[in-house]
Amino acid sequence: MSGGPTQAALIAAANAAMAHAYAPYSGFRVGAALGFADGSVVIGANVENASYGLSLCAETVAVATAMAGGVRGGLVAVAVTGGPGGAPGSDPVTPCGRCRQVLCELAELGETDPVIWCAGADEVLETRLSALLPHAFGPRSLR
Ligand code: THU
Repeated sequence: MSGGPTQAALIAAANAAMAHAYAPYSGFRVGAALGFADGSVVIGANVENASYGLSLCAETVAVATAMAGGVRGGLVAVAVTGGPGGAPGSDPVTPCGRCRQVLCELAELGETDPVIWCAGADEVLETRLSALLPHAFGPRSLR
């Protein structure tokens, strides 16, 4: 990975973001941190809603925050952490299907394939967005 925050820094940012999760319904708190090639970090946390289906995942909140701030590429790494009660669970949280698609939009804009670090209590699962969402439908598909 060229540029971008270290794994430890990005997971620490995701953990800090998790503290702001609003998850009164599931009790499952998630934090996400996006790392960019210039070293910047944008965070998100899950934001649930009394109308349960309207809840937003941490990764989606982070992507929306970055893009609303004008970011259109440079996504080189993503860290996700979470679990019941606000502590990383024994199984690392991997981005849900919708979040994979949302992450893909920003990644494809900058033609990157970000590394994904999913932090569990005792391990970090490392993968790539292209592995989580192969043969993705993205902005390029509409050209
Ligand atoms: N959640 C996330 O924030 N990210 C994921 O990738 C998986 C699920 C949230 C959604 C909901 O608020 C809670 O975790 C339980 O599903």
